[in-house]
Amino acid sequence: MIISIKPWLELAQQPDLTPSMMRVGESFAGLELSSDAEADEFRTSYRSYGPSASINGLEQGKRMEFYHKPIMSAEILSAMAPVRGKQIFDGTLGGGGHSELLLSEGAHVIGCDQDRDALEHAKARLESYGDQFLTVRGNFESIDSLLAQVGVEEVDGILLDLGVSSKQLDNPERGFSFRFDGPLDMRMDDRAEFSARDLVNEWSVDEMTRIFREYGEERHAFRAAKAIEKAREKGAINRTSELVDIVSRVIPKISKKNPATRVFQAIRIAVNRELEVLENALEKSIDHLATGGVLSILTFHSLEDRIVKHFMRRLSTPFLDRPEWPAPRENPEYCLHLPQRRAIVPSKEEVESNPRARSAKLRVAVKL
Ligand SMILES: C[S@@+](CC[C@H](N)C(=O)[O-])C[C@H]1O[C@@H](n2cnc3c(N)ncnc32)[C@H](O)[C@@H]1O
Repeated sequence: MIISIKPWLELAQQPDLTPSMMRVGESFAGLELSSDAEADEFRTSYRSYGPSASINGLEQGKRMEFYHKPIMSAEILSAMAPVRGKQIFDGTLGGGGHSELLLSEGAHVIGCDQDRDALEHAKARLESYGDQFLTVRGNFESIDSLLAQVGVEEVDGILLDLGVSSKQLDNPERGFSFRFDGPLDMRMDDRAEFSARDLVNEWSVDEMTRIFREYGEERHAFRAAKAIEKAREKGAINRTSELVDIVSRVIPKISKKNPATRVFQAIRIAVNRELEVLENALEKSIDHLATGGVLSILTFHSLEDRIVKHFMRRLSTPFLDRPEWPAPRENPEYCLHLPQRRAIVPSKEEVESNPRARSAKLRVAVKL
């Protein structure tokens, strides 16, 4: 439910309104919150934005106040123990939700994002933390040079909350979503040269089939790729809605999901080289974690989680053994301790109040 802007603004402007006053079923200025999820979203937003609080991405003037609801906040706080004096690199700043939690506990945060809009938004939102909060624009794949830019060698924590933010997904102009018509873009960094439009118009059927199958786990990958090839013979494919039409004609709708979902996900992963970037970042991150430092990676895709799992297992195994060796040998890469071998998943309550949390998996490792 999207509440119309006028009563919402009247509500938000009530000078003595505090988050605890807002409960489901209570009415302010003629407005009633209809669910726990909406009340929760309002309270979170109110804590960050005060009188400009919003829900459901409601626009105030031209500015979207709601950016991204941080996922598994409690679990991340408990893993990172962000006390005063600690310095944490948040490689996926986004709306600044996780960073704010870390800052409010006293930690210093270096916030990084490759998205210009995210960085500007978070800078403004977290301005009050002064020099406790630094920002750098770039790809966390280059964590080494990003830290060098701010004169830091080692940090006590590295946080990556992978993928795109709600704000990026919900902005038609960014072209990430099959739900809105917009240009076929999908670049998180608008300085990058390669976009979804290039992929869809230039890649071979084989290349598209591979990514639809591997990154999207799309059973009809070949059919979708062939349909794109056929469609582009008539002219370039430029809009998200065109791509939705093309693939929806050949991918059967078997659930509530839009048939284009998996193709869009695969293209986004390929355009932003998300898996390769993650692998590179993990390898480099270890060199910049202080002893006792915590690596926390939040993934939303099985391929991402597999990369993180294998990386953490590889570096947390003290001895290696092979049938041809007379005895186990020390693992030269051994430098991590895993407080928990299994991935941590969000609570049922969190998934209910924020469906975007449903596929989240958090893996944590501590540098030895
Ligand atoms: C899921 S959001 C993060 C939300 C954030 N944790 C919060 O609480 O608001 C992911 C953000 O990371 C950024 N991002 C994704 N991959 C990146 C990369 N390789 N380098 C830098 N930023 C990246 C995206 O642009 C996006 O803003």
